[in-house]
Amino acid sequence: MARLAKVYLGTNTKMNKTIRETQAFLQALDAATADLDRAALELFVIPAYTALYHARSAAPRERIKIGAQNMCWEEQGQYTGEISPLMLAEIGIDVVMIGHSERRHIFDETDAQENWKVLAALRHDFTALLCIGETLAQKESGIADEMLRTQLILGLQNVTADMAQKLWIAYEPVWAIGENGTPASEAYADAKHAVIKQCLRELFGAAGLDIPVLYGGSVKPENAVALISQTNIDGLFIGRSAWEAARFNQLIRTVLPALKLKRSRMEP
Ligand code: PGA
Repeated sequence: MARLAKVYLGTNTKMNKTIRETQAFLQALDAATADLDRAALELFVIPAYTALYHARSAAPRERIKIGAQNMCWEEQGQYTGEISPLMLAEIGIDVVMIGHSERRHIFDETDAQENWKVLAALRHDFTALLCIGETLAQKESGIADEMLRTQLILGLQNVTADMAQKLWIAYEPVWAIGENGTPASEAYADAKHAVIKQCLRELFGAAGLDIPVLYGGSVKPENAVALISQTNIDGLFIGRSAWEAARFNQLIRTVLPALKLKRSRMEP
């Protein structure tokens, strides 16, 4: 058996979709995927803040988890423009995404801030989805592994193995994300996932291997199967190719049989 029972497939809609568009997207995605066995699939959608409240009721929680794209580490106070864990808990959010590349590189978030957010998310019983990834310059300088280890070690300071049960990691190389991105090859992605898993093992012992590590960055129907078939890739975190329910559904249905094959291959 592969170590993780489920495959993790989700999308961050970034600064796209109004409330109505998000509702329609979730309803269509849920209708298209309602038949799929959730014991083997964790499906999640991370819409814009303004749509979160309505998103929560647009699809059943046991079929589609809803996440927030960011969160302040403080519960309340003088933090203009921020959203607190209490506010997200009030609307029943499941997942909090932390340290997406666009937060780190456009809004200058630091590893220390990501760490405070991870700790706050886990303290409030959310699933914390910590995103990490090297830039093109770091990759070309041959320090990608060091960067990934640094982001993990700093981002996960003071997280215990027990808390890490609600931790997910997304490996999203900065050079692979978005319209100008080039997807990582499956071999490159798998090698980086192996580095991440090794680091998680050092941090949390055997429990570190139960933390799902998702690949993100220009995932599309054409490369999804090759990526998910890799030993160390536990899920896919998708942007543009998942923003239309029919296309996302198609991608999910392409991935699931590949996963069965991978499981049978990994069977002792
Ligand atoms: P993309 O986005 O699939 O559009 O490259 C990925 C991401 O930013 O998570």
